[in-house]
Amino acid sequence: MRAIVLAPDQPDRIAFAEVPEPAPAVDEVVIEVRAVSLNRGEYRRLRQMAPGTVVGYDPAGIVAVEAADGSGPPRGTRVIGLLPNGSWAQRVAVPARVVAPIPERVTFEQAACVPVAGLTSLAALAHGAPLLGKRVLITGAAGGVGRFAVQLARLQGARVTALVGGPGRAAGMRELGAEEVIERIAPDGEPFDLILESVGGEVLTAALPRIAHRGTMVIIGGSSDTPSAFDGLVFARKGPITIHGMSLFLEMERQGMDRREMGWLLSLVADGRLDPQVDRVASWREMGSLLRALGAREINGKAVATVD
Ligand SMILES: NC(=O)c1ccc[n+]([C@@H]2O[C@H](COP(=O)([O-])OP(=O)(O)OC[C@H]3O[C@@H](n4cnc5c(N)ncnc54)[C@H](OP(=O)(O)O)[C@@H]3O)[C@@H](O)[C@H]2O)c1
Repeated sequence: MRAIVLAPDQPDRIAFAEVPEPAPAVDEVVIEVRAVSLNRGEYRRLRQMAPGTVVGYDPAGIVAVEAADGSGPPRGTRVIGLLPNGSWAQRVAVPARVVAPIPERVTFEQAACVPVAGLTSLAALAHGAPLLGKRVLITGAAGGVGRFAVQLARLQGARVTALVGGPGRAAGMRELGAEEVIERIAPDGEPFDLILESVGGEVLTAALPRIAHRGTMVIIGGSSDTPSAFDGLVFARKGPITIHGMSLFLEMERQGMDRREMGWLLSLVADGRLDPQVDRVASWREMGSLLRALGAREINGKAVATVD
C-alpha cells in the first residue's frame, strides 16, 4: 500500500513509498484512511524521526478489519483514530480503545481534526476545571489546537482571551467565543486563572507574570522554537501557582482519556457546538504544499489532506 514517509533528501522532507500492509494486534482495528489532519507536531517531527517512518497522528476513515477480540466497531463503520505515527497511509492499525465512530452529520475532513487538536485542548483545559466564570488565556489561538481550545473553554463557561499573531489571524475568533482578542500580552491587567501556552519565547515570558494567584499555566508546546527568559521572583511573589508541562499521550493515560472523550468531541461537532475550523483541504498528493502553509502560519485553524 502507499504511505507518506519521512524522506530528508526530498524538498518537503516527505515522499510516497510502498510500505507493508498493517498487521493488527487482537485489540486493533484496521482503518481504511480517507482523510488526515495536519498538526504542528508532525511538521516538527519531520526533522526528528528516522527516515522511512510513516508520518501521521490523525486518521479518519472506514473500519476495514474489525478488532479480533471484538473490542472495536464493526467493519464499515466511519471512525477516527489516534496514533503516535503511521496515519498518512492508505490503511493503518489503531488500538480499539482510541477508535471512535463518526456521527452521520460529520464529514471525514472535520472528524480528522478532532483527535490531536481536540483531545489536547480538552486535556489542557481540564487543569483549570471548573472553568465557569474563570479567565482563560489561549496563546497560539489562531492555530488548530488554539481554535478548539477557545471553543471548549467557552463551552465550559470561561471568559476567554485569545492571543493571535496579527489582525489577519483573528478571523472568526469572537464568533468562536473569545471575549477578547489580543496581539500582545500587556505586562499588567486582570490575571488569568488558566493559561494554555504553546508559543514559547517572548510570549511565555510575557504570560508568566499574568498568572493569577493559585492559577495554572499548561505548557503544551513551543511553536516559536525560541527559549524564554523569566524572573523567578514572579513565582515567589505570587505564592502558589502551577506550571504543568503536557504531552498528549502521557496526559491521556494520566487523565484516563480514550475513545469516550473522542466520542464527546465528535458529538459536539455533530450538534454544531464545536467547529473544527477546517481552513484548507487538499489531496495528500499536495501534502508538501499543505506542510509549507502550516509552517508559514498561513492556516487559520486546520489543514486536512484527503487520502485519494
Ligand atoms: N503537548 C502535546 O501533546 C501537543 C499536542 C498538540 C500540539 N502541541 C503543540 O501545540 C502547538 C500548537 O499546535 P497546532 O497543531 O495547533 O499548531 P498550529 O496549527 O501551527 O498553530 C500554532 C500557532 O502558533 C502561533 N505562533 C506564534 N508564533 C509562532 C511561530 N514563531 N511559529 C509558528 N507558529 C507560531 C501561530 O499563530 P499566529 O500566526 O497567529 O501567531 C499558529 O497559529 C504546537 O507547538 C504543537 O507542537 C503539543
